[in-house]
Amino acid sequence: MRLEDLRGRTAVVTGAGSGIGEGAARYAASLGMNVVLADVAAERLGAVAAELRAGGAAVLAVPTDVRDAAAVDALAEAAYAEYGEVTVLLNNAGLESLGFTWEVPADEWRRVIDVNLLGVFHGLRSFVPRMGADPRPSHIVNTCSVGGIAITPRMTAYAASKHGVQALTESVYLECAEAFPQIAVSVFSPGQVATRIFEDAPVHEQTADDAGFWRDQIREGMTPDEAAKLLFDGIARDDFWILTHPEAFERLASKRARVLGEKLRPDALFDGRN
Ligand SMILES: NC(=O)c1ccc[n+]([C@@H]2O[C@H](COP(=O)([O-])OP(=O)(O)OC[C@H]3O[C@@H](n4cnc5c(N)ncnc54)[C@H](O)[C@@H]3O)[C@@H](O)[C@H]2O)c1
Repeated sequence: MRLEDLRGRTAVVTGAGSGIGEGAARYAASLGMNVVLADVAAERLGAVAAELRAGGAAVLAVPTDVRDAAAVDALAEAAYAEYGEVTVLLNNAGLESLGFTWEVPADEWRRVIDVNLLGVFHGLRSFVPRMGADPRPSHIVNTCSVGGIAITPRMTAYAASKHGVQALTESVYLECAEAFPQIAVSVFSPGQVATRIFEDAPVHEQTADDAGFWRDQIREGMTPDEAAKLLFDGIARDDFWILTHPEAFERLASKRARVLGEKLRPDALFDGRN
């Protein structure tokens, strides 16, 4: 899909009120796309919408909790009512959680799975049938993470959710190839991108050090605008794997492959640099 062909077409972005989603929405608008912004943080969503409108973009902002299947259906209805088609869907909303598995409150664990994994499922169930009814090419990108192939202790709910997104995306790629071959499906697997994700992660007494460490780590990461450009370059090339940090991904993937292939214990993942 050539980026110049996206002018006048519609992109739907979840988690568009901040970070990578905001960057992707801004990039889509810069391509001349209509942008449908969804986020549970209505105030931040409104601010992003106002900024993009001020730049001349056609914007529809729909406060949406991706945990709620009916709300995501309403998002799809609103997008199609306003623009009549969707060419790019970015299932991107996500959040983090830190701590030993048995210490993280059950509601927090469930919220991570609900947003990161079921939120993507809700996007697919609401949009795929509509996008599939349109014979024109379209593209779905699910934001996963290097956490979709790697393991980090004390980030277990996140890793479990992202491994789920990885499996879901590979499966849906095959399902779309069978049922709706005009829909391309990609997984976006960022490394460190400087966003608010660890600012919003609940901090418990036991996780304060980890939270500080990760906040500092991703502050050094690439900007959301840079990540968004790589995301759209991946769409243009029709890559299945869209990466921000290919070398880090390769290193983690090789370790994962070795652990699986040689049936090693998980500590082998942490031999040498991780
Ligand atoms: N920043 C990184 O280093 C990094 C690395 C790998 C993967 N990711 C993934 O990128 C995606 C975007 O994260 P980000 O880093 O831009 O973080 P961010 O916190 O800046 O943005 C995430 C957005 O998702 C929204 N959101 C949270 N719960 C929601 C819900 N229930 N319904 C709708 N929206 C909701 C938040 O309000 C926020 O605006 C996530 O899926 C995250 O896991 C980020």
